[in-house]
Amino acid sequence: MALKPPSPTGSITVRAAAKINLFLGVGPLRSDGYHDLTTVFQAVSLFDDVTVRHAESLSVRTSGEGAADVPDDPAQNLAARAAQRVEPGSTIAIDIDKAIPVAGGMAGGSADAAASLLACTRLLGVDWSRAELMAAAADLGSDVPFCVHGGTALGTGRGEQLSAVLSRGTYHWVLAIAKVGLSTPAVFAELDRLRERDNPGSADGPDPDDLLRALAAGDVERTAELLHNDLQPAALSLQPGLRRTLSAGVDAGALSGIVSGSGPTCAFLCADEESAVGVAAELAGRGVARSVRTAYGPVPGARIIESG
Ligand code: C5P
Repeated sequence: MALKPPSPTGSITVRAAAKINLFLGVGPLRSDGYHDLTTVFQAVSLFDDVTVRHAESLSVRTSGEGAADVPDDPAQNLAARAAQRVEPGSTIAIDIDKAIPVAGGMAGGSADAAASLLACTRLLGVDWSRAELMAAAADLGSDVPFCVHGGTALGTGRGEQLSAVLSRGTYHWVLAIAKVGLSTPAVFAELDRLRERDNPGSADGPDPDDLLRALAAGDVERTAELLHNDLQPAALSLQPGLRRTLSAGVDAGALSGIVSGSGPTCAFLCADEESAVGVAAELAGRGVARSVRTAYGPVPGARIIESG
C-alpha cells in the first residue's frame, strides 16, 4: 500500500467503528494467557474519530461519550501506543472524539488504536503494506485488526486472524450502554472460574456455521435466533443486573438480545429500523441502562475522513 505523505503541518482524521460479536466461541485458556476464539464480528455505526497532527510531544486528548474514563497517559492509551508502533519516538498530538462506550465490550479502545495506526502511517508517510498494518494492529490488541477491516468477518486465533464473511442486507440494533464498565481480562477470568466450577476441562460449544448461512442469506430472524456469546454467563455473573436489561429489550419487541463481547453493553437485534427506534424508546424509559442508542451494521472499517 503506497502512502503519499501529506504536508508535515497537516492533520489527518480517521473514523473507526464499534463491533458486536454475533457469535463468540471461547476455547480453553492458553499458556500465553489468551483464549482461542471463533468469532463473527460485525462493525456497527457507532464511531470514534481520531485526529493526529505533528506536535512538540506525544499527547492524547479525549472528548465525547465517557471521555473522562479513557486514560490520557500516552504509556497507557492504545491510540498513543499505536503512534509509537508506527514510528517509535514520534511526537504527535492525538485527539479522540468518542461515541463508542468505554469498557463496553464494543472494541472502543481497539477502534481508537486502529484509527490512530492508519492516521499515523499517513501523517508520517510510512509506506506499510496491508499485511504490515494488520500485523501492527494484532500487536496492539486482539480486536484491533477487525477494527481496521470492518464489515463482517470471521475471527480465529486470539480473534486477530480474519477472513471476510458474506453478509446480505442491513441489521438494525439497539444498544443498552451500562452505567459501569467491565474489564475484558476480568470477564475472561470469570469464564475460566465458572467452567472450572461447573464443568472442569470442557470448553465445547456450538460452531458458527448456521449463523454464517443466515448472514449469507440476509435472514435477520434466523440470525437473531443464532446469536451466541460464550462470555455472556461470565458478564452476567459479574453484573447480574444485565439479566433485567436483556429481558427488557426482548419484552420491548427486539428479536433477541445478547451481551456484546465481554460486555456490559447489551445488543438487541430488531426486525427493521422502525422496530429499533421503538425498542430504543421503550428501553430508555425503563431506566435499565445509562444510555440507549440505535445503530446499524455492517459498516466499513477504519477510514480517512479528513486530511488537511
Ligand atoms: O488482546 P487484548 O489486549 O485486547 O486482550 C485483553 C485481555 O483479554 C487479554 O489480556 C486476555 O486476558 C483477554 N483475552 C483472552 N483471549 C483472547 C482475547 C483477549 O483471554 N482471545
